[in-house]
Amino acid sequence: MQEEKANIGNLFNRIAPTYDKLNHLLSAGIDKRWRRKAVKMMRRNENVLDVAIGTADFAVELLQQSKAAHVVGIDLSDEMMRLGREKMEWLNLQDKVAFQHVDATNMPFEDECFDAVTCAFGVRNFVDLDKGLLEMRRVLKQDGELVILEFSYPENPLIRFCYDFYFSKILPLVGKWFSKDDTAYKYLNSSVKHFIWGEEMCNHLRQAGFQNVSYKTLTFGIATIYKSVNGDQ
Ligand SMILES: C[S@@+](CC[C@H](N)C(=O)[O-])C[C@H]1O[C@@H](n2cnc3c(N)ncnc32)[C@H](O)[C@@H]1O
Repeated sequence: MQEEKANIGNLFNRIAPTYDKLNHLLSAGIDKRWRRKAVKMMRRNENVLDVAIGTADFAVELLQQSKAAHVVGIDLSDEMMRLGREKMEWLNLQDKVAFQHVDATNMPFEDECFDAVTCAFGVRNFVDLDKGLLEMRRVLKQDGELVILEFSYPENPLIRFCYDFYFSKILPLVGKWFSKDDTAYKYLNSSVKHFIWGEEMCNHLRQAGFQNVSYKTLTFGIATIYKSVNGDQ
């Protein structure tokens, strides 16, 4: 899996044309509600960094809910960002977003230059999670908030069974059929399965220096919103 992570930009370039459609189809639209909820939990901010912006669904939500005046979005996939740019133009939000090809684990930004940092379904793809979290804290202003939305693992055994079946059988099959990519959706399945969640993720956030770390599970624990701040608050 580390090999796929090292080439994550290419993997998402390949599936970019079908990413949005498949995402909304496979989640029956729940992913949109998760993003909406995560953004609702935020304060109003001037300048937000959206890490792993992809096709910009989270950034759209930030701007439409007026939780950000301006968004800088970084990603390693130019194709995902190209589609994100098109989406912003379609919504007439293009002046409020700047897309940059930047690795989240090695950002070119100055210390403490963003009011908030967000990352939706991105952190599990980092080659080095802790390095990414440290970078997010470095570029975040004192008292600035970090909001992460990521897949997690449900507690209920029945939901777990359905979840495992869905991610290991349905997702790779439909993903392959739609995107014609054999490996990408297998990777997405295993990246979700092997990623940490809940208290373990909170501990990584605390280790990176974040404070007031909390989390809220969504839809039986299929996804989780993690919230924390850079400094006491
Ligand atoms: C599942 S998509 C999520 C996109 C978007 N945030 C959303 O809510 O739909 C994950 C994105 O993370 C990007 N990504 C993965 N590792 C990255 C890294 N180290 N730095 C920047 N972007 C990264 C991928 O290229 C991909 O576009």
